Amino acid sequence: MQLRVTSLPGDGIGPEVTSQAICVLEEVTTGFGHDLELDEKEIGGVALARFGNPLPDSTIEACLASQAVLLGAVGNPGYDHNPRELRPEAGLLRLRQELGAFANLRPAIVYPALASCSPLREEIVKGTDILIVRELLGGLYFGQPRSIDAAGDGTGGVRQAINTMRYSEPEVERIARIAFQLAQTRRKRLLSVDKANVLECSRLWREVVTRIAGDYSDVQLSHMYVDSAAMALVLNPAEFDVILTENMFGDILSDQAGGIVGSLGLLASASIGGPVGLYEPVHGSAPDIAGEGIANPLGAILSIAMMLRHSFHLPKEAECVEAGVISTLMGGFRTRDLARSGERTVSTDEMGAQIVDFVRLAANSSARAAS
Ligand code: IPM
Ligand code: MN
Repeated sequence: MQLRVTSLPGDGIGPEVTSQAICVLEEVTTGFGHDLELDEKEIGGVALARFGNPLPDSTIEACLASQAVLLGAVGNPGYDHNPRELRPEAGLLRLRQELGAFANLRPAIVYPALASCSPLREEIVKGTDILIVRELLGGLYFGQPRSIDAAGDGTGGVRQAINTMRYSEPEVERIARIAFQLAQTRRKRLLSVDKANVLECSRLWREVVTRIAGDYSDVQLSHMYVDSAAMALVLNPAEFDVILTENMFGDILSDQAGGIVGSLGLLASASIGGPVGLYEPVHGSAPDIAGEGIANPLGAILSIAMMLRHSFHLPKEAECVEAGVISTLMGGFRTRDLARSGERTVSTDEMGAQIVDFVRLAANSSARAAS
């Protein structure tokens, strides 16, 4: 099979982690007899520096011409004072829109080998396997009107800012259907998180999700307010299966999930729903450690597994990459974010090379078994 992928390394640690993820992708495609066509483009701060635009047309065109996009990270404190449209993050938000990627899947899994990495007690986090389904193209991130008033606009010099949370029924319905379908492939429990005691958007959200549930009678639906969900997540993370929530709540809860599993560096994501899937580690650009070769590439590598599964429908290849990650962790390999005091650490490249080696051996032996 032919796989057309665009890689967008972006800012900070993005290039270091994507280069390892691409090595894994190359190994798994060759090993399983596929043909990989790879293109690389700019996004975020690096695109701003080169083109004055965080998402140049050449990047959008390449992404739309491929079947899946791997993104490293965007963000560079050097651009913090730029107007919103000229910040690195604006490039990512526009890319999500251009790709129609309204469904953001963020798994948070506590691997047995890492159960002691969590700041929570092992008996609390043991068995945690959560899938956060975050709505990605609506809510406060994109709602109009939005503005910051300049002083001296008739308000007596008092500045004010406006953001709008807005959701339509079809927007809620399409993300709800994805979440129900994913729950059907798992433990069949779906928790919808909202703030229906305060927000109209959440009341509509809850009504629509409850109505859609009628089409998925095998899935057990429950609802929770976002504040209690945040507490329940730390108290009983292992109780959760699929969490469905709107854009901003999902942004916050998914970082919290990263804290629970022990490191944001492990978290992968898929943004799907449009013609081209977007895959990215959840960690940001981490400018404080960029270029040191110590970043954890597993979030990016596990994003490749999600790409293989969701964009290319290659579950065996996806499982091979995931098995490589699990076996590497069981083997005791730790990047700095995962190591406890006194534990030996490996670099970004050494960690990536472990997964590549595993995939090479596994692909060889499955090819031998097939012949
Ligand atoms: C994320 C990030 C982005 C978001 C930023 C970089 C725009 O925090 O993917 O979670 O808020 O969605
Ligand atoms: Mn975030």
